[in-house]
Amino acid sequence: MTRSDFSKTLIDRLAEADHVAVLTGAGISAESGLSTFRDPGGLWDKFDPQELANVDAFLSNPELVQSWYSHRRELALEVEPNPGHEALAELEKRVPHFTLITQNVDDLHHRAGSDNVVELHGNITRNYCMECEREATDEDLAPIAEGEPARCPSCDGLIRPDVVWFGEMLPPDALRQASRASERAGVFLSIGTSAAVQPAASLPLRAKASGAYVAEVNVRSTEITRQVDESVRGKAGDVLPTLTDAVAQHG
Ligand code: OAD
Repeated sequence: MTRSDFSKTLIDRLAEADHVAVLTGAGISAESGLSTFRDPGGLWDKFDPQELANVDAFLSNPELVQSWYSHRRELALEVEPNPGHEALAELEKRVPHFTLITQNVDDLHHRAGSDNVVELHGNITRNYCMECEREATDEDLAPIAEGEPARCPSCDGLIRPDVVWFGEMLPPDALRQASRASERAGVFLSIGTSAAVQPAASLPLRAKASGAYVAEVNVRSTEITRQVDESVRGKAGDVLPTLTDAVAQHG
């Protein structure tokens, strides 16, 4: 990956932009070792979201759902942010108003040092009581390892991961911030997402309709490839450090 893999327009506009918005998906964490959802061998290839990622599944089999999320939480905490996450944290320092909108729940953007992160689908490292909404501690989650449902020590409600399940609303504040950032952005980057899930997938198009230059970074084409201004084919961990360096050297 070299500077010539990007258009001059992308580098110029990034270097000069007052507002930049970025949307990331599971692809940016693939190089840290976390599975994506829709690639071959991905999570939704191996597991059925009907059994694991909606409130009815949770209520009918809380132990199963809690243990699946608890396992994914452990994996997320074991792995490290990669150069793609780090490059975005670096880019944030060079842009006056930078919003990193993520569909990922793995917390890797925060751990890489990104500051203004909007989590559209929640954060798997957090859990809370479904009844009283008290945040759960690691100790509260201990029964999961024994195959027992984890319950709130205050009210005995079931503890659930702080993620958005199918059929649930996105956190309204996060959606509002993401929409506003997309409408204000001079440049919008869509990175490592299949752009298959709404409303996140509409954000790059909303940005484009508001005048942003929209570039996609992905190893393959996606639902929005034909609508974006520029498609950069490659791994986020290769592309983003090169792009950030090019912006830093922009004269
Ligand atoms: P997907 O699994 O749908 O898409 C991952 C994308 O990353 C694909 O387009 C891959 O081509 C691309 N990709 C893989 N490795 C890459 C790499 N190293 N560099 C760049 N791109 C790479 O994941 P998302 O788009 O994030 O929702 O899925 C969106 C939502 O669907 C998730 O947040 C999750 C899921 O259901 C919830 O859990 C609510």
